[in-house]
Amino acid sequence: MSGKIYLYPIWIRLWHAFNAILIILLIISGVSMQYTNPDNPFIRFDIAVSMHNICGITLTANYAFFLIGTFFTPNGKYYKLTLKGLTSRLIKQFTYYTFGIFKHEKPPFPVTKDSKFNPLQQFTYVIAMFVLVPIVIITGWALLYPEYTLTKVFGASGLTLTDFVHVIIGFFVSFFMFIHVYFCTIGATFVSNFRSMITGFHESH
Ligand code: HEM
Repeated sequence: MSGKIYLYPIWIRLWHAFNAILIILLIISGVSMQYTNPDNPFIRFDIAVSMHNICGITLTANYAFFLIGTFFTPNGKYYKLTLKGLTSRLIKQFTYYTFGIFKHEKPPFPVTKDSKFNPLQQFTYVIAMFVLVPIVIITGWALLYPEYTLTKVFGASGLTLTDFVHVIIGFFVSFFMFIHVYFCTIGATFVSNFRSMITGFHESH
């Protein structure tokens, strides 16, 4: 079956474009602060700090926009995880990606208006958007206002612990993004999913 289904309304496309740009800038400025030699920085330290703060604050506003859109429009239904049978659905999709796709089998969960994401997509999007990104945002604000951060947690410095969680989960978000972009190339053609995020129309085979 070939055809186009309108799945990405304009607000999702705008949210997503800002989200992707901001997260890329956060990764660049974050990595620069973390690893560069102070005498020869990738981005001058004070500039990297300002860049990271401004992008983090803007990302928070953009995330609030995503939450409002998700809870107050029909798009929210795509994020409702059904736990019953989840493991077998995930295994089925994973088996398709590792074997079936190379044998030109049909996708086990074709895209429809009622089911925009396959189980692996849905699961990873829920984890990214409702677990990882909120943790990075909350710990980021805690680091911006350290005077309100717990000073001690089980004898360890609260600030160090917050920083540790921020960096580790930030790393997971970066990891998610690379895998996500790779999987987006597995569409009707190499570029069709990327085109969907511009036109709003999903293209099937
Ligand atoms: C260069 C970076 C990125 C590119 C090129 C990209 C590309 C895409 C594409 C092509 C889609 C549509 C196909 C699909 O639904 O899977 C999509 C959807 C999505 N992306 Fe990304 N993405 C990027 C970064 C991110 C980041 C950083 C996040 C989250 C932290 C993210 C979260 C999502 C979510 C949640 C959806 C589904 C939106 C919806 O329809 O409700 N993306 N992305």
